[in-house]
Order: sequence, then C-alpha cells, then structure tokens
Amino acid sequence: MLNPLLISSLTVFALSSSVYGVAVNKRLPVPAGYVAPPYYPAPHGGWTPDWSESYRKASLIVSGLTLAEKANITAGTGIFMGRCVGNTGSAERAGIPQLCLQDGPLGLRNSDHNTAFPAGITTGATWDKDLIYARGVALGEEFRGKGVNVHLGPSVGPLGRKPRGGRNWEGFGSDPVLQAIGGGLSIQGIQSTGVIATIKHLIANEQEMYRMYNIFQAGISSNLDDRTLHELYLWPFAEGVRAGVGAVMVAYNAVNGSACSQNSYLINGILKDELGFQGFVMSDWLSQISGVASALAGLDLSMPGDVHTIPLLGNSYWMYEYSRAVLNGSVPVDRLNDAVTRILATWFQMGQDSNYPRPNFDTNTQDAEGPLYPGALISPRGIVNEFVNVQGNHAEVARAVARDAITLLKNVNSTLPVSPNASFKVFGTDAEKNPDGINSCNDQGCNKGTLGMGWGSGSSRYPYMDSPIDGLKFRGANYKFFNTDSFPANSNPSPNDTALVFISADSGENYITVEGNPGDRTSAGLRAWHNGDKLVKDVAAKYSNVIVIVHTVGPIIMEEWHDLPSVKAILFAHLPGQEAGSSLMQVLFGDVSPSGHLPYTIPKSEEDYPDSLSLVGFQLGQPQDTFTEGLYIDYRHFQKAGIKPRYAFGHGLSYTTFSFSNATISPVTPLTELPPTRHAKAETPTYPTTIPPASEVYWPENFNRIWRYLYPYLTKREADSAAAAANTSSKYPYPAGYSNVQKPGPAAGGAQGGNPALFDTAFDVSVRVTNTGSRPGKAVAQLYVQFPEGIEWDTPVLQLRDFAKTRELQPGESQVVELRLTRKDLSVWDTVRQNWVVPAGGEGEFGVWIGESSDLLRVRCGTGSGACEEGVVAPV
Ligand SMILES: *[C@@H]1O[C@H](CO)[C@@H](O)[C@H](O)[C@H]1NC(C)=O
Ligand SMILES: *[C@@H]1O[C@H](CO)[C@@H](O)[C@H](O)[C@H]1NC(C)=O
Ligand SMILES: *[C@@H]1O[C@H](CO)[C@@H](O)[C@H](O)[C@H]1NC(C)=O
Ligand SMILES: *[C@@H]1O[C@H](CO)[C@@H](O)[C@H](O)[C@H]1NC(C)=O
Ligand SMILES: *[C@@H]1O[C@H](CO)[C@@H](O)[C@H](O)[C@H]1NC(C)=O
Ligand SMILES: *[C@@H]1O[C@H](CO)[C@@H](O)[C@H](O)[C@H]1NC(C)=O
Ligand SMILES: *[C@@H]1O[C@H](CO)[C@@H](O)[C@H](O)[C@H]1NC(C)=O
Ligand SMILES: *[C@@H]1O[C@H](CO)[C@@H](O)[C@H](O)[C@H]1NC(C)=O
Repeated sequence: MLNPLLISSLTVFALSSSVYGVAVNKRLPVPAGYVAPPYYPAPHGGWTPDWSESYRKASLIVSGLTLAEKANITAGTGIFMGRCVGNTGSAERAGIPQLCLQDGPLGLRNSDHNTAFPAGITTGATWDKDLIYARGVALGEEFRGKGVNVHLGPSVGPLGRKPRGGRNWEGFGSDPVLQAIGGGLSIQGIQSTGVIATIKHLIANEQEMYRMYNIFQAGISSNLDDRTLHELYLWPFAEGVRAGVGAVMVAYNAVNGSACSQNSYLINGILKDELGFQGFVMSDWLSQISGVASALAGLDLSMPGDVHTIPLLGNSYWMYEYSRAVLNGSVPVDRLNDAVTRILATWFQMGQDSNYPRPNFDTNTQDAEGPLYPGALISPRGIVNEFVNVQGNHAEVARAVARDAITLLKNVNSTLPVSPNASFKVFGTDAEKNPDGINSCNDQGCNKGTLGMGWGSGSSRYPYMDSPIDGLKFRGANYKFFNTDSFPANSNPSPNDTALVFISADSGENYITVEGNPGDRTSAGLRAWHNGDKLVKDVAAKYSNVIVIVHTVGPIIMEEWHDLPSVKAILFAHLPGQEAGSSLMQVLFGDVSPSGHLPYTIPKSEEDYPDSLSLVGFQLGQPQDTFTEGLYIDYRHFQKAGIKPRYAFGHGLSYTTFSFSNATISPVTPLTELPPTRHAKAETPTYPTTIPPASEVYWPENFNRIWRYLYPYLTKREADSAAAAANTSSKYPYPAGYSNVQKPGPAAGGAQGGNPALFDTAFDVSVRVTNTGSRPGKAVAQLYVQFPEGIEWDTPVLQLRDFAKTRELQPGESQVVELRLTRKDLSVWDTVRQNWVVPAGGEGEFGVWIGESSDLLRVRCGTGSGACEEGVVAPV
C-alpha cells in the first residue's frame, strides 16, 4: 500500500523521465541457476466442489456481461477515486456493486470508531488458536460494519527471514507453521462474517527497501530455490488457501527476476494450479507493471487501477486497455472471463450478494463531508464519513490477546509478580501516550509514546490508547513517572523502589522513514530505540530492582544490560495495540500468569545470523537478494550452527511451572512415500471464446465522465481499430511457453491447499500438562519434528509442526492437549519429483518432541516405536 506523499514524489520522478519505463520492466539477469519459468495458461477457477455453487452463480452473471462491464470489475477506478483504499468498477446493470477494499491486518486503517487490535506478531506470541480465531471474527465484524468487502489481511509474508525487515510484525512469527496457523485461523474468523480476507504478500518480500519497480530501478529480486519456497515461504499461503481464503495479494518484489505481479510460474503454476486457489489474485498498490503480460500470468484484479509509473493521471494498464487487449486479440476473452468469474464467485462464496452493507466511511478524510473522488481534484462532494461505531465488545478480545502475548523472558527469584503496594519509579517515554496525540503521525509513522503498532498501511488509528501509565493509575499504584528517555538526576532512588523501564523498537513500511529507518530497521539495527540500552543501564546502576518492559516489532539485542544484577525481570509486551495498559498490569500484578512465548529467536549478537539475512543495500540495476541460507532462518539456523541464542524461539516463562507427562502417539492414516494420486479437476464454467463486438466498449452517450477516473471505455474509433487489429497478422509477442490449453494440474495439487492427502492426519499425539507450581497459569505445548537419521535430504534439526495452549490451570490441575501430525508435516519437497515425499516411506523413526519451547523439550515420542518417553535429552 502506498501513500499520497510517495505518489507525488513518484510523479516528479516520472515527469522528469519517461524513457526509463520500458527498460526496467524487462527481465534483468539474476544469479546463475535461478529461473522464473513460464507457466501458461492461467488455470480456470471453479474446479473444487466447495466452490462449485458460487461458480455456477457467478457464471450465470458473467455470461450476460458486456466487455466493458467485465473490464470494470477487474480493476480499481483509480487511486483516491472512492471512499476505500481500493474501489473496483461496477456492473450495476447486472447487480454487481463497486467493491470496497481496505487495509489492514490489525484493524481498519484511516477510519474511526474502530478497534486498534494487537499486531500479528503479538497474536502469534499468544500461541492460542482460539484467540487467533476470535480476533479474526472481531476484525471481520468491524470491516463488515464499515461496509468493506475485502479486508487486506492477514499478512503471512514477510516470514521474518530478516530480523531487520520492516513488516515482520504484521505477520505471526518467523516459522512457517506458526505463520500458517496464525493466517489460516484469522482467515476463517474474518470470512465467518462474510468479509473476503486477503492473504499477502505472495511472496518472499523479506525487506522493504528496493521493493518496488519504479522508472529508475527494477524491484528487488528474491532468488530462492524450489524446496525453500515450498517448505518455508509458501507453507502459510498453502494453509490460507486451504482455509478458503478469497483473495491473494502479490508482492512488489520479483522472484527469480520476474515481478510477482506477472510471474506466471508463481501465480498460474504454484498458486492456482498446485495450491488450487479458487479466489482472485490482486496486485499490491501499483505493483502491476504491465497489462497483457500480467493478465496472461494470472493476475485478476488491478489495484488501485493506475499504472505504476505516474499514477493519478487517469492511466491504467487495464480498464480501457483491457478492453483494447481483448478486442485486438492479445488477451483471450477466456482469460478475462476467468478473472471476472473468480471475483464474482468469491463475492457469492462469502454471501455478499445479500444484505451486504455499503461503505460508510472514507479513508481519505476524517471530515463528515468531502469530495467523493479526491483524486479528481474537482469532484462532486457529499457525506463521506458516517462515523459508524463498529467496536462492539472487541476491546475484550484485543485485551486478551495483548495480555496472553506478554512474554516473560527473565524473572530472577520470582521478582514478578509485584505487589500493588510497591513503590514504583517509571522510566521511558514508551510508558505514556504520544504527547502530540495518539494519532498525530500519519499511518503511525513515528515512534513517540507507547508503541502499540508499527507504521505504514498495516496501521490503524487508535480510538484510545490505554497506556501503561493509565494502567498504573487505574490500579491506584504508588508510582512516580519520569517521562524521558534519559536517566533523570532527580529520581531519588530508595532501596524499596521497583523501577519499571520502558523501551521500544519500531519498524514499518517503506514509504515512511522514521528516525533514519526506511521501513526496515536500517539505522536502528536490532538495538532499542532512543538510547534504550543506556536508559536501562543508568536505571540499573541506581536501582536494585529493575523490571524492563519492551514494546517491539521483533528481536532486540539486550546483552549490554541483560545480566546486570539489578535487572531482575524482562517482559516483552510486543505490539499491544490500544490495550497496552491494563493487559500489562494484569501480568505485572499477577492477576494472571504470563503465557506468551517468543514467535522468533532473540540472539546475543546480530553477527550470529547468516550474512544472507542482512538487508540488501544499494546495487546498480536490479537489487539481488539470494536466499543462500535455504531452510536455515531463525531457530533452524541457530540449531544447525550450534549457536546458543539469548532466548530460543518459543521461550516464555510463567509464574507457575508445568510438567508434561503421559504422552501418547497413535498412527491414523498409514503413510506411503508419495501421497495418493490426486482427483482430476471438476468442470469449470465455459463461455464463448469469440471476441465480443467493439460496440460493447464504446463510451456511453452523454456520459458524465469524472476527470482522471478509470473507465473501461474506448472511443468508437479506438475500439474499432483494436478490433480490426485482431484480423491483421501482427500478433502480440507471447512469452516463451505460452499456451492456451488448460492443464490437468500437477500431482502435488488436487484441492484448496494442495493434494488433500497432504493434510490427512498421520499421527495423533496427546500429552498431559499439569500445573506443578503454586499459581494458576496457561501452558503452551509446542510440537517439533526431527526427521529420521540417514535420509537423503538435509533437514533442519527440529521444525515446529503444531501447538496448543491449555486453559488456565489451577495448581495441581492438568489438561490433556491434543496435537497432530499430517502427512505434509512429515514430508520434504522433492524438487525432482515435484511432490511431497515422506522420507523412507514413513518407515523411519521420526522424533516428535513436545515441550514449552524449542530449547525446553520435555517429552519425546517416536513414530516408528509408537512410544513416548520423558526426561530424554533433546537434540539441541
Ligand atoms: C527459482 O529458481 C530456482 C532455481 O532454478 C527454482 O528451483 C525455483 O523453482 C524458481 N522459483 C520460481 C518461483 O520461479
Ligand atoms: C464502471 O464502473 C463505474 C463506477 O462504478 C460506473 O460508473 C460505470 O457505469 C461502470 N461501467 C459499466 C459498463 O458498468
Ligand atoms: C492490443 O492491445 C494491447 C493493450 O493496449 C497492446 O499491449 C497490444 O500490443 C495490442 N496488440 C496488437 C496486436 O495491437
Ligand atoms: C535470589 O535469592 C537468593 C536467596 O534470597 C539469593 O541468595 C540470590 O542471590 C538471589 N539471586 C539473585 C540473582 O538475585
Ligand atoms: C497492600 O497494603 C494493604 C494495606 O496496607 C494490605 O492490606 C495488603 O495486604 C497489601 N497487599 C499486599 C499484596 O502486600
Ligand atoms: C522500606 O520498607 C521497609 C519495610 O516495609 C520499611 O520499614 C522502610 O521504612 C522502607 N524504607 C523507605 C526508605 O521507604
Ligand atoms: C502418567 O505418568 C506417570 C509418570 O509420569 C505415571 O505415574 C502415571 O501412572 C501415568 N498415568 C496414566 C493415567 O497413565
Ligand atoms: C475479422 O475477421 C472475421 C473473420 O474473417 C470477420 O468475421 C470480422 O468481421 C472481422 N472483424 C473486423 C473488425 O474486421
């Protein structure tokens, strides 16, 4: 997503140079061995039984649409040309309204009377499937309440490969399974309300800088091999498609040198054929860089509709150009029919054809009245904001997520919880609201006051901010607050004081630079912002009982102060959204035990990561980002390299203790080396393939045209001449490998998410979790798989495959939690066979490790032995 500031600077660039445009859109060389192969044609949607009724309804409508109506539905009407961040054209004659698309993953962006939920990374840190789902339902209710058809979330890419990457916090953590469960359950929750969810960004956009194609430079190319793609980055997308997600947004960057918005292998091959995606694929805002090529490569919806070079001037690659491309025979009408059918089928699939609310807010202004088409400069005005309150009781789920995400990293001698009678000295500007106003920075593009979220299109306006200071006040705590990031000379340390030090680390989207960080943590690195390390050290020098509270987008290095004797406890509160205060107080004062666990590894030094995980800096030509580390990111790297991190992935302490016992493992579906053969695709809608008459796109008579608005129409002369061109011998230069013949689909496919047999349960696993301490608390059981020894594939030491959180257990109480392993969980992606293969045909002994963290594994079960043991030494 973009913002007006960027648009104007792009415009300046573009006006000063129009010659570069063509050159940077061409494929540029990538490192040897990486190729973006052709995959044509775009597979038709509608072949899975769970969507067939929606496709039937959609096809009845599509059969009656004109070419202009079809072109209208597949693109936005232009940037700032409607109330939402994206607005499609309509086909009112056929009862199809404009669709409203709106950011973002943690709540409505640029709106009012909405909840600012905890960010994805915070949600991931709860490791609580019920809460993830409940947050999704609440998000869906708010988007529906505002009249949004398409919610632009969840984000499962970036995966968090680069710890400095700017947008990792929008997703759920640096592991494909945590990300997949976070995304999949969010999608189910959101779509249960009838809102179309959008899983994004396909794929491998692991840093912000250089992400976009512009007139001077091609967007960064993520070069990665097929196995890494399948086993890491694609995994959460597969789970999202399996959950029935309605929309996919492609990323700005290229993969193997081909822009994601027109990468046929990625969209046609991997997403639509292998993963069996039945919804529609949209561009990210201005990520589309071609017309015909992107259509052939499988893009279905152009957002916001403008060309990427100079938006806002009324130019589009689609809309009227799509009409032309169909008339002149470049894009087969079959491709357009499929795109429109996919969009309308998704609309039916979510039930948006009956009683769906129209937008009642305006993302462009906070005023009640304003221009209906701000991009037009001269526009009719009207009521644009109706200030509908959609918050319901969602503060409760927001607070529950914020609270149950709080991760206790260190707690010497049970310093926490603290007595509400304690005498507190509070340090750090992060403890209190931004004094300039909680929404004073556009898209939260600043780090001032309590950090509740990162910045960019994934942000939301706060309806209020319950800050930690508000929380202390509300509890009637005895505290003195020093609203500064430098240690104050006048704090009068007393031996009885408990010092609370608040520090933060922020990041966001590339169109805003905050304190020298252009989205990614380029200049801040993995250090706390605002000299947070010094503040902690200074406080620790004067106070003997120091508790550090961190609001952060990801890992920070804490070595300068972690081991100081007075630093008694460390809490990561992640990005809590609007509910920062009371959620923290509940943990601080022991109303509940902390139950969050790290959704990423915290290293002792940034040097401990492989070099390939650094940000890519300026390069002449197309920046190249080659994923040489393969599968070895985050804990997979630390475990392989034998590097002990400061805190391992999954780490999180409680005020109580738990034991894991009486584990069981039982085989369910017998495994074979390869999954059973997939089903053939079912019939998809068919339409005439003849080019429609040019008259279908003539400008209507006396049409009241809005300046710079995007329309599907051509003048009679243009339309007729396009139609005439279809009969000439000059043909569109189709890419190598181009074909018009639908394929049966790859062996690894067969249903939404892939071959359905991949998701068969291979083993049920259960474990009894007992609260062995003296306070109530919730435990997380994490299940990691260790592949058999001696197999022909190199596999990470351990890989997370499932998890479960218990209810709050009283001291002595226990709960049996159920976990499971699918066929896919026990497979590797075989690049030669192009299928998921169970090494040794499943005969081998997979180690199934269960515990509270990737480095605290208490129970081992064996798939071969069928037995489980306690007290065994884990491989790491
Ligand atoms: C990228 O290139 C690698 C190496 O040739 C190949 O294995 C992989 O499938 C390619 N991925 C895509 C998405 O083109
Ligand atoms: C295209 O959409 C616009 C915006 O909703 C609408 O004004 C126009 O009539 C539509 N055109 C067709 C052919 O339906
Ligand atoms: C047809 O129109 C498209 C879209 O403007 C254009 O890219 C293409 O070159 C045209 N093809 C021919 C054969 O004129
Ligand atoms: C924890 O408490 C014990 C007993 O009071 C004391 O000996 C020890 O030094 C304390 N540890 C730390 C790290 O403060
Ligand atoms: C806090 O102080 C009150 C009044 O002095 C006392 O009744 C209460 O027990 C104290 N609470 C704790 C947890 O120490
Ligand atoms: C510290 O606490 C103790 C015990 O509660 C009390 O006797 C003492 O007066 C307090 N000291 C100060 C400086 O407040
Ligand atoms: C559970 O395991 C414990 C030992 O860890 C054993 O004493 C107990 O009998 C087991 N309970 C059941 C129901 O198997
Ligand atoms: C193109 O050729 C076909 C078949 O020869 C003919 O029916 C059609 O009228 C021609 N269209 C135009 C626009 O010349």
